[in-house]
Amino acid sequence: MLGGAQSCLTLIVTFLLALCFKSLEARENGVRTKVFLSPKIVLGAGSVANKWFYDIDFPRGHVAIKDFSAEVVDDAGNSVPLHETYLHHWVAVRYYERKGTDVSKHSQSPGLHQANFLVARNAGICNHGLIQYFGLGSETRKTATYIPDPYGIEIGNPAEIPDGYEEKWLLNVHAIDTRGAAQRLGCTECRCDLYNVTVDEYNQPLKPDYIGGLYCCYDKTQCLLKQGFESPRRNLYMRYTVKWVDWRNSISPLKIYIFDVTDTWEKSDKSKKALSTNHHCHIEYTVEACATDMNKEACVDYRRISVVMPTGGDVIYGVAHQHTGGIGSALYGEDGRVICSSTPTYGEGKEAGNEAGYIVGMSTCYPKPGSVRIADGETLYLVSNYSSAQRHTGVMGLFYILVAEPLPNTKSSMQAAVEIHGETEKSTFVWVGVLFGVGIAMAIVFVGYRKLRSPREDEYAPIVI
Ligand SMILES: *[C@@H]1O[C@H](CO)[C@@H](O)[C@H](O)[C@H]1NC(C)=O
Ligand SMILES: *[C@@H]1O[C@H](CO)[C@@H](O)[C@H](O)[C@H]1NC(C)=O
Repeated sequence: MLGGAQSCLTLIVTFLLALCFKSLEARENGVRTKVFLSPKIVLGAGSVANKWFYDIDFPRGHVAIKDFSAEVVDDAGNSVPLHETYLHHWVAVRYYERKGTDVSKHSQSPGLHQANFLVARNAGICNHGLIQYFGLGSETRKTATYIPDPYGIEIGNPAEIPDGYEEKWLLNVHAIDTRGAAQRLGCTECRCDLYNVTVDEYNQPLKPDYIGGLYCCYDKTQCLLKQGFESPRRNLYMRYTVKWVDWRNSISPLKIYIFDVTDTWEKSDKSKKALSTNHHCHIEYTVEACATDMNKEACVDYRRISVVMPTGGDVIYGVAHQHTGGIGSALYGEDGRVICSSTPTYGEGKEAGNEAGYIVGMSTCYPKPGSVRIADGETLYLVSNYSSAQRHTGVMGLFYILVAEPLPNTKSSMQAAVEIHGETEKSTFVWVGVLFGVGIAMAIVFVGYRKLRSPREDEYAPIVI
């Protein structure tokens, strides 16, 4: 009897394990797909989490990443809509950790400054910040992030990892619980008055003219709620899906570049002949409202900067990152040709992935390989447009591109490579999920927000741009 029950139990356990395994890792034509969960993030109404999770679960070994998508889910695994938990940004950073360093898994200590950690950053171009490989914000669910064959983002190459170190990944997640918020857009735009914040995370006074942005919505800050609003704290997770293939020489590695419209770089450094490499990226900026007598449609905040690409190549993928109020962004070459133009999609409903007033996706560029080429040392122009029908604080204007060394111009070698991975593309659209690391992908939400009727029920009022 006992034996029977036991083997029955074993069968059930095996079955369940098989089920689990299936949902967690799948393999199709050499492309592996795995779904991971971040450590728990606990949020109450109006509260903010800005977490740094070191040594997250990630594919190991010498592989090529083909896709990386993510979203916020609750305890039951349900997608959480942006009007409840606003995903300001998530960012995945590659780093090397000295072997034997005693850092517990998922530790939240900011250890990156210690000598035991070396950031293995992207190819550029900001001096500080925007070092990530992948990252997005509110647009994460509906922005394509797959990488077409024969390309991939190479990681875990033993020849690149310094002696005595191992490669690891950290995840930074910034989320704002806006259930019951007195002003939902203001909370997502990190308006300092709504957070009642006058000093930054390190207790340094903020400049008097700093009215909103990341310095006002750091970890554990609290946004103003409607009077009497109560809601239980709840557990949330980043659920991220990674697709990859084992490394092989037929894969063409991509370099990641992130441009920022707040970069103060200037070409002329008169004292030296060499190009300036001083890219001071501020990451966020404020869009001031246009004059009240202006036609709202004509109220556009237009920003444009230039940067020089030291090393060019073929653009394989491009996407911009903007917050609520964003109406489009584009990257141009020196001669004015469009390298990539990326525009936001705003949601129109209530459900996760279609939240009205929020940017739920950014359009992407997948130029035919070789058709969009950046020359070595070419000057690029980045444009970011926002509606200035009302003021927006803490907005962003980033452009993320993936660049390959031009392939040898023989069709046959490329076709051969395509055949090896031929089947991957089919399934990629299923993972409409996310995006790539548009810089610190932050996203911000609403454009306009009507006062809710009852302070107790947190109705979701759609937003008007
Ligand atoms: C805002 O902060 C100040 C100083 O920290 C505190 O005295 C005041 O009560 C706070 N106001 C609200 C509305 O929380
Ligand atoms: C940005 O706005 C300017 C001025 O309104 C317009 O000429 C340009 O086409 C816009 N560009 C993008 C990428 O939206």
